[in-house]
Amino acid sequence: MRKTLVAANWKMHGTKAFAVELLEKLNSGLESGKCSAQVVICPPYPYLGVVADKMGQAELGAQNLSEQPSGAYTGEVSAEMLLDCGARYAIIGHSERRSLYGEGNELVAAKYAAAKAAGLIPILCVGESLEEREAGKTLQIVAEQIQAVIALGLPETWQNAVVAYEPVWAIGTGKTATPEQAQEVHQFIRQQLGEAGGATQILYGGSVKAANAEELFAKPDIDGALVGGASLKADEFTKICCAAN
Ligand code: 13P
Repeated sequence: MRKTLVAANWKMHGTKAFAVELLEKLNSGLESGKCSAQVVICPPYPYLGVVADKMGQAELGAQNLSEQPSGAYTGEVSAEMLLDCGARYAIIGHSERRSLYGEGNELVAAKYAAAKAAGLIPILCVGESLEEREAGKTLQIVAEQIQAVIALGLPETWQNAVVAYEPVWAIGTGKTATPEQAQEVHQFIRQQLGEAGGATQILYGGSVKAANAEELFAKPDIDGALVGGASLKADEFTKICCAAN
C-alpha cells in the first residue's frame, strides 16, 4: 500500500519571515486536520535551516542538487550538504531546471544517482511540453526521461525514490491535466519502472489546488502531488494534504 505524499515546491519565493509564518500555519493546520499524508517541504536553499527547525510532521526537501559529491563547483550544493541540513528528499530534473538551465536527461540522471548514492530520496520530475502532447509524443518523452535513469543501472533504482509527472503545459498555468489524462501517464510510468514500480510513489504536479486534489488522488496510480503556487498558501496547501484522508 503506497502512502499519499504531498510535496511543496516553493520555487524562488518568500523571505525568512514568510517561511516561518507559513510553516507555523501549516503545522497547526496539518495537526488539527489530522492529516494522514506524508508532507515534504522544499524551500529555497537559504531557508533549509529555518524550515528544518520548524518541521512538525512534515519532512524537508531541496529543489535541486549538484551531480558532484564535492569540489570546486561555485554556487552548487551537494547531496551530502543537503542531508547535513536535515533534508531527506530532493527534487531532480524539474521542468524549470530542464528548460531554463539546460538540464538534459543525462545530467538529470547523474543528479538522480548522486542523490541515491548519498541516501537522499530523489523526486524525479518528468513530463511533456504542450507541443509534444499535441504531437502525440507524451509517452515517448516520458519514457526517454525515465530510461535515462534506468540506463545507469543503479542498484535498486526505484526503491526509496519518488517520480513526479508534471506536464509542462499544466505548470503554473491553472490548466490541470484531467484525472484521466494524468492516470494514463502514471500507469505508463509505473510500467516503465518495472517490478519495483509497484511500491514507488508517483506524484502528479501542475496546477494542483484544493478543488482538484481529491479527484486526482482517487486515481489508482496517483499517489499524491507536487505543488507549486498553492503550496505558498497555508490553508490551500493544508486542504490538499488533507484531501488524502
Ligand atoms: P504549480 O502548482 O504552480 O502549477 O507548479 C507545479 C510545479 O512546478 C511543482 O513542482
